[in-house]
Amino acid sequence: MADPEIVVTRRWPEPVEAELRRRFPSVRLNTDDTPLGPEGLRRALAEADVVLPTVSDQLPAELFDGPVRTRFLGNFGVGYNHIDAAAAAKAGIVVTNTPGVLTDATADTAMTLLLMAARRAGEGERELRAGRWTGWRPTHLLGTGVTGKTLGIIGMGRIGAAVARRAHFGFGMSVDFYDPTPNVAHHGVPGARQLSKIDDVLDGADFVSLHMPGGGDNHHVIDAARLKRMKPTAFLVNTARGDVVDQTALAEALRDGTIAGAGLDVYEGEPAVPAELRELDNVVLLPHLGSATTETRTAMGMLVLDNLQAYVEGREPPCRVA
Ligand code: DGY
Repeated sequence: MADPEIVVTRRWPEPVEAELRRRFPSVRLNTDDTPLGPEGLRRALAEADVVLPTVSDQLPAELFDGPVRTRFLGNFGVGYNHIDAAAAAKAGIVVTNTPGVLTDATADTAMTLLLMAARRAGEGERELRAGRWTGWRPTHLLGTGVTGKTLGIIGMGRIGAAVARRAHFGFGMSVDFYDPTPNVAHHGVPGARQLSKIDDVLDGADFVSLHMPGGGDNHHVIDAARLKRMKPTAFLVNTARGDVVDQTALAEALRDGTIAGAGLDVYEGEPAVPAELRELDNVVLLPHLGSATTETRTAMGMLVLDNLQAYVEGREPPCRVA
């Protein structure tokens, strides 16, 4: 493919856009960063050889029904449950993602949420900025210590393992985890125990961090019944995908003390965040910042480019998922 028509759906970090322009002079960048929406995406699929979407673009099966010129979808991001990859493949499209390069940044965000929730950092900041802080006192905003506690990880892939290592080596936490792959051994955490059921992890953990893909069987895998399995002193952290947690059940569990608190970076139907969560003080809410460092977002973009370069040269893209 000599000079493919390329549509980029959002703004990318400047060095990556510059490199894209250098290699593919006719690339169509999204300079004002307005989401294309369903109609814009349908048009892009009909007109461009290559579309480079990201998590904020929904590409369900029906978008691949009409006339499709696109042959390559290079997702800017590791999670791709916003793309019906099976439908894309059926339409003859190669799909790639960006694993690996965002592991550390996302693990850092999970730890940020864990610490903020445990130490009531969001509440404290809101109090101070509102001019309500009246000074130090022995009983002011007491949180929960993390050192030596048990962290439960659901999904011991790259990011889950990176969170487990931070928690173990940085905070002396012990780790229990669930992963559907038997005998996961590459996590690098001494004493980490792989339990055979999610419920067993939830029963014993002081903190639970979610690291499974969204969609499919993982939809609402943390529901009211599973929240009830957790200790009333425990905290839930989600940097994976919003739909893995039933948000209505979570708001209820946070309100009635079923669990102590939560830290969320992702939401079902984002950027909408339910008012019932926004009203609660015992949940920390971040706007999907998991991979949001300059270094990481640049590396993600460069990896999309590597995938695309391989595709246009007729090689197998390094991160092909469909
Ligand atoms: C991903 O890559 O899947 C993230 O959620 C976007 O940072």
